Amino acid sequence: MTAMIETRGLRRTFKSRKGEVEAVAGIDLSVDGGEIFGFLGPNGAGKTTTLRMLATLLAPTAGDAVVAGADLRRESAKVRERIGYVGQTGGADPQVSGRSELHLQCRLYGMNARQSRERADELILMLELESCADRRTDTYSGGQKRRLDIGIGLAHRPRLLFLDEPTTGLDPQARARMWTEVKRLGDDGTTIFLTTHYLEEADALCDRLAIIDHGRIVSAGTPDELKRLVAGDLVTLSVEGDQAAALDVLSGEAFVRESSAEDGLVRLYVDRGEEAMPPILRLLEPLGSSFGRSRSRSPAWTTCSCARPAIRCARRQRDMKLLRDIWLIFGRYFGIFLHNPAWVVIGVLQPALYLLLFAPLLKSVASVPGFPRGGPYNVFVPGLLVQLGMFGASGVG
Ligand SMILES: Nc1ncnc2c1ncn2[C@@H]1O[C@H](COP(=O)(O)OP(=O)(O)O)[C@@H](O)[C@H]1O
Ligand SMILES: [Mg+2]
Repeated sequence: MTAMIETRGLRRTFKSRKGEVEAVAGIDLSVDGGEIFGFLGPNGAGKTTTLRMLATLLAPTAGDAVVAGADLRRESAKVRERIGYVGQTGGADPQVSGRSELHLQCRLYGMNARQSRERADELILMLELESCADRRTDTYSGGQKRRLDIGIGLAHRPRLLFLDEPTTGLDPQARARMWTEVKRLGDDGTTIFLTTHYLEEADALCDRLAIIDHGRIVSAGTPDELKRLVAGDLVTLSVEGDQAAALDVLSGEAFVRESSAEDGLVRLYVDRGEEAMPPILRLLEPLGSSFGRSRSRSPAWTTCSCARPAIRCARRQRDMKLLRDIWLIFGRYFGIFLHNPAWVVIGVLQPALYLLLFAPLLKSVASVPGFPRGGPYNVFVPGLLVQLGMFGASGVG
């Protein structure tokens, strides 16, 4: 099986007033094509930062990765073409309908108007959004919003989909529905990399998962392998290294109520097994003990050299794409602007009023070539155009 994601020493630090924050402290992982891979960890563990790096939204401070067959640093445009990314907070515009949002997304990925309409219809059917597709997205339920977010991420049929906490904040019913959706995508062959802080979600969905805490992967394996380490509120660890040292480190922790060791097993009674796992594994890490942890890594780095004409051609295409994207987005927001009578009135009246008030001042500074100095054109035309643009843009933006 070929790897869909391979990372080596991926690291990201942020500068803050208090100093450097090491959000991701060097991650090595390998995700196979076709699998659903989970990143399980508490808030602040570094899940979103890792995902944003792998989706080219954030530059790594150090390390390398190959994502969907392209080098993360050198071929970021290729990575973006091949992946879908659904952020933790979603990205749908509240002022437009779900259908319009899906349509725009398809257009931005280069489909023509007809193809985009067809793909939007297909996604609406697939994600069962028919009942709300033509309503503004700010009227959607949490589950509908999240399904639309997934639709946006899937618009261009990516082979790899990143889902950042797809069910956080959803009620149990919407969560169950989202699980069905994710499983179906996985069955259809899409590789999925999702983050979650629910153990039961990782268990229900993932073929393999990694537990992350304080920016480090503390354990990785199949859900069954990891579950064997956690038994309800009794956490049982099979420690092959220095058991006494492990017991010593763990028994001093406030969340460990009782601890014992025998036959190669360390048993801990904790308040909540799933919450206790990341700190337990982190505390044991410096001891170098082996506790059924599995790290799989097989670096297979490809260097890619491109011929110059190809680069020039790619640049021209990129510039054209940028212009087209600006045009598509301008069209979307100009349409919203025109549908809002109050904005149109303000957009026209405000600059006119402004000009009337400031006409004497502008009269002495503005000048349109070819028109007599001090005439009405010199006062109104340049200022009106500039300010229409300014006020119009600020009203929409
Ligand atoms: N832009 C940023 N500036 C400073 N610190 C950040 C920034 N983004 C994330 N962090 C910090 O990095 C750590 C990991 O954050 P994040 O990746 O969002 O965690 P998770 O998604 O697992 O909850 C946290 O301590 C967070 O406060
Ligand atoms: Mg997060």
